Amino acid sequence: MSLPAIQLTDTLHQAPLPPRGRERFARLQLVRQAQGELVRIHDGRELRLRDIDGNDVAAIKRCFQRLSPEDIRRRFLHSMSELPEPMAQRLCRIDPAIERAYVLEDENVVPGEIRGVGRIYVDEAANSAEFSIVVEQDWTRLGLGAMLMQHLVDECRGRELSEIWGYVLLENRPMLQLCRELGFVQRLLPDEPGTAQISLAL
Ligand SMILES: CC(C)(COP(=O)(O)OP(=O)(O)OC[C@H]1O[C@@H](n2cnc3c(N)ncnc32)[C@H](O)[C@@H]1OP(=O)(O)O)[C@@H](O)C(=O)NCCC(=O)NCCS
Repeated sequence: MSLPAIQLTDTLHQAPLPPRGRERFARLQLVRQAQGELVRIHDGRELRLRDIDGNDVAAIKRCFQRLSPEDIRRRFLHSMSELPEPMAQRLCRIDPAIERAYVLEDENVVPGEIRGVGRIYVDEAANSAEFSIVVEQDWTRLGLGAMLMQHLVDECRGRELSEIWGYVLLENRPMLQLCRELGFVQRLLPDEPGTAQISLAL
């Protein structure tokens, strides 16, 4: 896979992920705006990258409904047929002291739809953060997953954390491949067969 240079209209992401993967974002153009960043995809589509907020509950539930059972299992590490209201609320109303969550909002439809989410949850005692990420199927293979991961890593670095990590099912080749390219290392979990812990020292 080629890794051409990140294309930014403003100065962003000064500490690229190891390996120096600036190039992998060439398919996207990010324009900093008052409310988040406008993400231009090479095919002309646009999404807004912004922080999640309490008004996103309905959109996050609709996003969940569009996910395939496989994507749900890969994101939540178990099967779920619906996103319960309390969980949707919890996912949108975060504690900024220990959490950050970005959404990719499609503003070209009414109501606006969330096409991707990336979040971290900080473990202050361990000085690390657990991440999770999902991109809706029709929007995959465009560089959005890698871009969300870059933002999460930058956020962890800004908080001076020493590690970002996540659980990934071993059958989840797309995510393992993505993380491998971003320099994450993989550790098998003896107590959790079928799951790996992937991490990046910051
Ligand atoms: C994994 C996931 C986040 C990838 O998102 P994405 O937007 O497609 O990621 P990118 O477009 O940035 O792809 C980055 C690289 O990952 C790898 N990759 C992504 N999807 C892949 C696939 N279906 N098969 C093989 N490799 C894949 C590729 O190397 C890809 O680079 P390339 O497109 O230049 O070949 C997305 O498929 C997803 O949401 N899956 C369900 C939820 C999940 O698995 N979450 C992870 C656990 S928290």
